[in-house]
Amino acid sequence: MSAAPPPAPVCADDYARRAQSLLPPAVAAYIDGGSGDDQALRANREAFAAVSLLPRVLRRDGTGSTRLQLFGRTLRHPILLAPVARHGLVHADAAAATARAARATASVMVASTQSSLPLETIAAALDGLGWFQLYLQPRREDTLALVRRAEAAGFRALVLTLDAPVQMASREAMRAGPAGSPGDVVPNLARQSPPPQRELEADASLVFQGAMADAPDWEDLAWLRRETALPIVAKGVAHPDDAARLRELGVDGIAVSNHGGRALAAAPASLHLLPAIRARLGDAFPLLLDGGVRSGADVFKALAFGADAVMIGRPQLHALAVAGAAGVAHLLKSLRDELEVTMALTGCFRLADIDRRAVFERTIPC
Ligand code: FNR
Ligand code: LAC
Repeated sequence: MSAAPPPAPVCADDYARRAQSLLPPAVAAYIDGGSGDDQALRANREAFAAVSLLPRVLRRDGTGSTRLQLFGRTLRHPILLAPVARHGLVHADAAAATARAARATASVMVASTQSSLPLETIAAALDGLGWFQLYLQPRREDTLALVRRAEAAGFRALVLTLDAPVQMASREAMRAGPAGSPGDVVPNLARQSPPPQRELEADASLVFQGAMADAPDWEDLAWLRRETALPIVAKGVAHPDDAARLRELGVDGIAVSNHGGRALAAAPASLHLLPAIRARLGDAFPLLLDGGVRSGADVFKALAFGADAVMIGRPQLHALAVAGAAGVAHLLKSLRDELEVTMALTGCFRLADIDRRAVFERTIPC
């Protein structure tokens, strides 16, 4: 007698557990790890788990909707796919499969600079639902080439990631060893000539005299703003002073994020960073959040704390590993269904109705 097949995944956590058992240990450790001791990774999940929402009763409304306006376009729902490198580690069709799922569910997908496929291939599968995530390259001409390709391919916004000029893997990922093969190239960067090599003194630091000596600064941001008319979303912002300065320099939106706990290991939960940034930038400025969003209730909580939309990172790779494009589409649909039920039961029929009044803060506000 053969064993009964495992039950089909019904939520993001199911996909995570299934992926963990399917993937090679080094790949699972690369995806699921944060940085260092994983403090920020854990903080993201704990922050959502600590929030309860207040049910409301006898509110009828047949006009409810999860629609929102962002950068002059209507999105059907506020759940975006965060930029995630190397989908090819978990599925042969890589980010092209994820893009098909995004299109099938009317979801915006942010394609990573470090995708396993060229940005043009992903854009073609997205049909206008794509944003491109940009890492500023050591040479401006290389950055500009990426921007021009993203514009030509039809991406509708740039997500400029700022929080990881250097990165350290999680201890678990370091122990598990490399996730891919040594010869893996990043197709989007394949046309670049190798970065300028620095002659380092024997006692030089690879952090300070290496990566940080070529890291982007505020001048580069001002330059990029002059070079493109695409909306720019600055990703990985935590401090309200940085957020305010980015807005002054013409950035169109901010993604409050700790890189899924993969940048500063001791960063706070991104959910906890949101309210101060919202307060500083006012109600109208577009704010996204990512880090630890695993359910429709989490999406609701992020919106209640001040986000306009959220991005999900790891769950897309888990669903892709388990069930390909169909898995990612199912994941996105379940998150949206969960969000709609949460909205209905809290009496919030439009995203604009969602605010701190829906959050239970030990006593009921009266
Ligand atoms: C990422 N993230 C990321 N961010 C980015 O700007 N460019 C990138 O190429 C990547 N690559 C990447 C790979 C992997 C395997 C992970 C897990 C994450 C960070 C990502 O966009 C997002 O900020 C977090 O993943 C959000 O947290 P959750 O949803 O994974 O908890
Ligand atoms: C990461 C890089 C690619 O977090 O942003 O893996």
